[in-house]
Amino acid sequence: MGFSRRQFLHRLGAVGGSGAVYGAMQTLGLLAPAVAAAKPVLPADLGRGRKVVILGAGIAGLVNAYELERAGFDVTLIEARDRLGGRNWTVRKGTTIRMNGEPDQICDWDEGPGLYFNAGPARLPSHHQGVLGYCDELGVALEIEVNSSRGAYLLPEQGPPLRQRQAINDTRGYVAELLAKAINKGALDQEMTPLEKQRLLPFLKAYGDLQADMSFKGTERSGFKALPGAADQFAEAVAPMSFGDLLANQRLPLSLFEDNIYMQATMFQPVGGMDRIPAGFERAIRSPILRGAEVVSIDQKPSGVTVVTRDPKTGQTRTVAADYAIVTIPLIVLAKIQNNFDRPVQAAIASVAYDNSTKVAFEAPRFWERDQIYGGISFVGGETSLVWYPSAGLHTAKGTLVACYSSGPVGAVFAKRARAEQIAMSAAAVERLHPGHAAELSKPLVVNWAKVPYNLGPWPNWDPAGGRQEGHTDLPAYRLLNQPHGRVQFCGAHLSQMPGWQEGAVLSAHRAITTLAQQVAAGGKAAA
Ligand code: ALA
Repeated sequence: MGFSRRQFLHRLGAVGGSGAVYGAMQTLGLLAPAVAAAKPVLPADLGRGRKVVILGAGIAGLVNAYELERAGFDVTLIEARDRLGGRNWTVRKGTTIRMNGEPDQICDWDEGPGLYFNAGPARLPSHHQGVLGYCDELGVALEIEVNSSRGAYLLPEQGPPLRQRQAINDTRGYVAELLAKAINKGALDQEMTPLEKQRLLPFLKAYGDLQADMSFKGTERSGFKALPGAADQFAEAVAPMSFGDLLANQRLPLSLFEDNIYMQATMFQPVGGMDRIPAGFERAIRSPILRGAEVVSIDQKPSGVTVVTRDPKTGQTRTVAADYAIVTIPLIVLAKIQNNFDRPVQAAIASVAYDNSTKVAFEAPRFWERDQIYGGISFVGGETSLVWYPSAGLHTAKGTLVACYSSGPVGAVFAKRARAEQIAMSAAAVERLHPGHAAELSKPLVVNWAKVPYNLGPWPNWDPAGGRQEGHTDLPAYRLLNQPHGRVQFCGAHLSQMPGWQEGAVLSAHRAITTLAQQVAAGGKAAA
């Protein structure tokens, strides 16, 4: 377009009046938030006489089962594990953590509010209305997940941790001062009109909490050195850090973490653990759920799909025949399951690499709360990446600290280390943030998703060579697997634009349901 959005609105106002401007603003997304499509509403008898087998009882499988049985389908849900939820997995007292090639870990934490650890998803953004909608519908109580705290730290490679409030506000102060200086020297005269400059200066003063002369001399926003109190207990702001020291902190860009749309307040978590969501589906679903049923083979013919399962404990096999199959098994696991899919489909499944992700959690007395940290995340960099403080059970005796959450290339190095070393490195990061307190960390637990049976990774790494993936995945294999393959549909967060979010699973399930409804409406004919 040859003109800006503002010019566009201005021109529209000139010809169409304010009603036209309002409508156009909505179209451009300036007034209303972007909203995902409502969930598919299917006629209650759409599926009468039709059988669907759903492979995998993670969020995608559960949504499919819940919606399709309501549309009259004869549903069978197959799950390799004894528990439902897939990556939605809450570890608490009594949970066994089983990983390939590792001794089992059994959680022996105390019981109590907040004494759990969401090994997989642990936060729900406000714009994830699909999954939030199911929480509402299924009676899953939510509470705030404090994803960001200005009291938490940014830890440089060397030296003491820096409170995020100081990192953010001192940086703003210096940037605002510099920009004001540049404007006042005329350095931006080519870029800005006199009116824009006149308007920007007071904004910069507010933005950086600058002095009358537009210099930055520190701000109370960065924290108190002396707290305001009774009578003559005057407040005193912390001294500003030098700009050079701020810029030398390798973690400074992480002061913008909460500006990432996926991380913005308000974020939620189910009360009592993320697995309250699969528990909600389990209460609602009436169809049979076969647990301990590893999928051995998937065989489709023009007339239907046959799935063979095996119970790993007893060796007992079962055969489930259906008109349609919805396969939510992670691609890295599916690649090893016998099937008669077309070769390009098999090749696409086999081509997808998976990322890794490790979380290390401890039980501990809530020493971080005595340091005025209530939820949020400290960023430590390196292989352990961050320390995530609990949002639940504030001011109770003990809490759980996620002392490492690491993925990507650095996480891959960490994931290969011995468990004892992973625990020691996580504790060391906590010690640097909270000196003297590593000794209070107890009962460590490690979940390395690449070693978790039936997952073998947290999410696909669709484009290891490329950069940005979330929201922008568009590769031939991704497109192919998002098409129905005869009577089989592949489905799950891995086939959405949010492979690491439950919302992706919900939206992929809604898509599969809609496609299935179209297939049924077309006379049950399998799409090519
Ligand atoms: N969605 C995942 C998270 O919140 C990756 O960390």
